[in-house]
Amino acid sequence: MGLALGIFGPMRSLILPCVLWATGALAQTPTTVDLLPLPVSLQYEEGVCTLICPWQLEVDEAASIELFDMLHAELMSLRPPQQVQCILPLRIGFRMVAFDTLMPPEWYQLTIRPNDIEVMAPSAEGLYRGSRTLVQLLEQGRSSGALPCLTITDHPRFPWRGMHLDVCRHFFGVDFVKQYIDLLARYKMNTFHWHLTEDQGWRIEIKKYPKLTEVGAWRKGSQIGPYAAQTFDTLHYGGFYTQDEIREVVAYAAARHITIVPEIEMPGHAMAALASYPHLGCTGGPYEVQRGWGVFDDVFCAGNDSVFTFLEDVLSEVMELFPGEYIHIGGDECPKTRWKECAKCQARMQAERLKDEHELQSYFIQRIERFVNSKGRKIIGWDEILEGGLAPNAAVMSWRGTEGGIAAAKAGHYAVMSPGSHCYFDHYQGDPANEPVAIGGYTTVQKVYSYEPIPEALSAAEAQYILGAQGNVWTEYILTPEHVEYMAVPRMPALAEVLWTPKDMRDETDFIRRLEAEFPRLEEMGVNASKSMYQVRLTLRQGEQLGEIVIEANGGKPTQPIKITLEDDPPEPWESEMVLINVSTSPYDGPISIKEPFIVTVSHYDGVDLDDRSFPASHRTITFNLATAHPITLSTPPHERYSTGGAFTLVDGIRGSSRRVDNEWLAWKTDVTITVDLGEEKDITHIGIGALGDTHSWIHLPQEVIFSTSSDGSTFSEFGRAHPKPNASGKVELGTSVHTKSRYVRMEVNSAGTISEGLPGAGHPAWLFLDEVEVR
Ligand code: ACM
Ligand code: ZN
Repeated sequence: MGLALGIFGPMRSLILPCVLWATGALAQTPTTVDLLPLPVSLQYEEGVCTLICPWQLEVDEAASIELFDMLHAELMSLRPPQQVQCILPLRIGFRMVAFDTLMPPEWYQLTIRPNDIEVMAPSAEGLYRGSRTLVQLLEQGRSSGALPCLTITDHPRFPWRGMHLDVCRHFFGVDFVKQYIDLLARYKMNTFHWHLTEDQGWRIEIKKYPKLTEVGAWRKGSQIGPYAAQTFDTLHYGGFYTQDEIREVVAYAAARHITIVPEIEMPGHAMAALASYPHLGCTGGPYEVQRGWGVFDDVFCAGNDSVFTFLEDVLSEVMELFPGEYIHIGGDECPKTRWKECAKCQARMQAERLKDEHELQSYFIQRIERFVNSKGRKIIGWDEILEGGLAPNAAVMSWRGTEGGIAAAKAGHYAVMSPGSHCYFDHYQGDPANEPVAIGGYTTVQKVYSYEPIPEALSAAEAQYILGAQGNVWTEYILTPEHVEYMAVPRMPALAEVLWTPKDMRDETDFIRRLEAEFPRLEEMGVNASKSMYQVRLTLRQGEQLGEIVIEANGGKPTQPIKITLEDDPPEPWESEMVLINVSTSPYDGPISIKEPFIVTVSHYDGVDLDDRSFPASHRTITFNLATAHPITLSTPPHERYSTGGAFTLVDGIRGSSRRVDNEWLAWKTDVTITVDLGEEKDITHIGIGALGDTHSWIHLPQEVIFSTSSDGSTFSEFGRAHPKPNASGKVELGTSVHTKSRYVRMEVNSAGTISEGLPGAGHPAWLFLDEVEVR
């Protein structure tokens, strides 16, 4: 391959004991292998490598004794059950080679020859990544006792391949954190973002401030169930990591070439710290470690120097524990309410000539950055740190969309992409009706796999600043390790492949096929992976005729038939029976068009996995009104985060549920005007539109909806307005009665605008959530 290779240092070598005489043939040698993530290059060679001879493990000492010990234990567990005496043992070598400038970071090469398996790399990191490939290969060769000969040459596309875990909303002990790190390692991810401090709990021991864990690690209860229910239990809840435990986890990750990025939140999400040391807040308290989720007005005081002393002391201990380049300082969702009223904060703004509280937040972050930089480290923060001026050396984690990452890269700052649309693994991954309660959203494994971390808005030079991406697991609704695994896998390997494999080699069908083979291995490892991707999905689209909806079923388990069933529309109370029109007593073989109301069910065809709770059916009630499946236009496109299905979502016959899933609702942070063409003049008696109110989640009913109609589509005459009760909650239909004959109907929907003081998200634009248009 033309690279200069050289061997450094002596080899540590050991022949793995245990030799039995084999009887009976083993299963057939696989002719191909499947890897997650897909390597850059895989070339099959002539011949077969037999795995049933004794193994001789040789690890270059330059690579580390730790690697030898770790691999020895791991490989022992992967040997085929049958072993035979051979003239030569199977040599499994890990060899350091001289660095060559042609080799990208983390580069490795793995060759399998009849009597010899070798991983070589110029770095211990490369050897370790190669060892992850080898583990997956040996798993596949175990039952047959053989592997095809091959050469793999491989390296990652991005240097930041991250997963995050929130251990504050719910606490996860050291054993599980290590298992989580094992999963990252398996898929060659290299960054673990450990979210350690929050309103609901401070989880890291700080020697100088013992109350952070004596007081701040515990709360008097927790919010339970869906957010809107606002229900709480009264159970004492908490936990924290001692510094010894932190060191243990850091070392565990380092052995797997995973860097831990600790997050210490500031200036917001700080209630646990304030409850421990009330002088750190603007009002002096008293404060409580929070039981409920959300964003809280009490934050670190930006005018009090003792806050900076405190944070510098905390960060000093944190930097002692975590050797990585980056320290995450949070920066997200910091209300400015207290700062506006605090004499000390206002005095700071005067003294520093800051024009508003956003600049005060920027002052806060920049002051912390100077301290962190003075210790030779860098800060990274959520994209709000761009507001009021970005700290000179900071990296940005783009979560509210991709705009933060784009702005950072254009300004020559590094960015890690973690947009809610593709990288929030706390979102639903299957039909919400069949999933455990989640925060909202709808992010299937296929959607994660389709993610492209380099935004189109960036030039090639600017794209260099995109370090990679990260999947986030926030745990408000996730109480157990099993549930974390369920939310993280298989979305984690999907993102891992996005970040490792060259873009033009990505192929969703092939990925899903490889994932199929991964599930039994995950099961063997005891990982509770979600199989929601096998649920049959229902998609609706506009038919060719007006008022026609095309229903498609897709997904399901590959190669297994699925079906669609239509039942008569929901019974009125006086109707005693539903009529079942089963349009598919045979397996589904293509889209179905409907022009009348039905309850639609998609599922696996009878007899297939029907007992497995992973494959429940999905139901939708489809109703028709004069606007259903008619041309609709929007003056402003919906926000990218709630735009799935586009404008058709408002006339697809399905009403959004209060679970607020983003393929049922469209959302804006602005006003929007909606126009529907009924196709011809129709007698109209009612016009309305569905809206959602959930002020805890910054979602407000519109201030006003203005209804009008037109015969020509250009001159509209207004005939009514709706004014919902401000701050009302739940799903509401805003409508008005009318007696007219018209072809076009229009709704000007005026959003609630800026959220008022005293409400969650004060000062931010309110979300406007809309669903079905109703014209009768
Ligand atoms: C975040 O999700 N608040 C960063
Ligand atoms: Zn203050």
